[in-house]
Amino acid sequence: MPSKLRSTVIGVGSCLPERRVTNAELATMVDTTDEWIFQRTGIKARHIAAEGETTSMLATKAAERALVSAGCCPQDIDLIVLATSTPDLTFPATATQVQAALGIRQGVAFDLQAVCSGFVFAVATADKFLISGSHRRALVIGAETFSRILDWKDRTTCVLFGDGAGAIVLEARQGEGTIADRGVLATHLRSDGRHREKLYVDGGPSSTQTVGHLRMLGKDVFRHAVGMVTDVMTDSFKATGLGADDLDWFVPHQANERIIDASAEKLHISKEKIIKTVSQHGNTSAASIPLALAVACADGRIKPGHLVMIEAMGGGFTWGSAMIRW
Ligand code: ACO
Repeated sequence: MPSKLRSTVIGVGSCLPERRVTNAELATMVDTTDEWIFQRTGIKARHIAAEGETTSMLATKAAERALVSAGCCPQDIDLIVLATSTPDLTFPATATQVQAALGIRQGVAFDLQAVCSGFVFAVATADKFLISGSHRRALVIGAETFSRILDWKDRTTCVLFGDGAGAIVLEARQGEGTIADRGVLATHLRSDGRHREKLYVDGGPSSTQTVGHLRMLGKDVFRHAVGMVTDVMTDSFKATGLGADDLDWFVPHQANERIIDASAEKLHISKEKIIKTVSQHGNTSAASIPLALAVACADGRIKPGHLVMIEAMGGGFTWGSAMIRW
């Protein structure tokens, strides 16, 4: 078997805004209850960015923590891929603002937009750069301030989302070319633009010259989510010859506990292997997976050598999975 460059995770970091908003507090703002929110979604609380606290600020803190955990300095990074649907500005890319804030002068930084699937798309993209040999060390970031695009009068959506950022450092390392290698073993991405009306933001520079608000047909999203994410996880199992029993951890996009549990059940992934942070973070879109990874690394669940499956589905629709040996 020929040796192969592998994109290996060497650090992880995250950042949540200080302000934590419970369901009870939300119930003072819109006509809802803790019981309604928790029963349907598993969400108990979410963090909301302070006035003036932007996506790039959260992303920069998460990236700094990931660099510390990797034992790297900013000068070691030659690629930044930042997934967000809530950039500081229409342009320049939020990734370039993180690059500047970290004092990085070399390499390339760009944003990637795949809504809730953004982090999985960013991992897959960075992986292709690293295994081609063109770049050596990447910061892969998911960062969002969804609170800024919510319609705070619409109780069907505003109770579901939160703000935050998470980051990993990926390094190109020589592997054996087998599934025992550390690093990204398989990625599968999909999209289908026919589903636009089910989950979208009703504004933008080219259409309305406004930022707009998130709109969602929740039941329709729910109906598609489980089938789509289990399809791309099955693709990962087929590509690697690995199965649900081989996984150490399943780290899904944290949108809704019922979607998470139904996906795991469909693929016979045991409950003990699921990392869940949705109760405390809400749905932070592209930030949700790296936030969950950071929690599970910090508390010692995810360890080097463990097999980790990440997956997400979001607006577009977009959906994808990545199998990573940590
Ligand atoms: N508080 C109290 N009542 C509410 C609220 C609220 N926050 N929101 C809606 N209701 C009411 C509705 O008005 C409706 O009342 P009615 O029966 O008198 O008309 C009732 O509750 C039921 O509403 P439904 O929309 O049918 O509720 P449902 O059981 O479908 O749950 C939910 C809604 C939680 C959004 C669900 O559809 C869901 O989880 N969908 C998945 C969407 C998702 O996770 N999206 C995240 C973004 S996409 C992604 O990340 C994959």
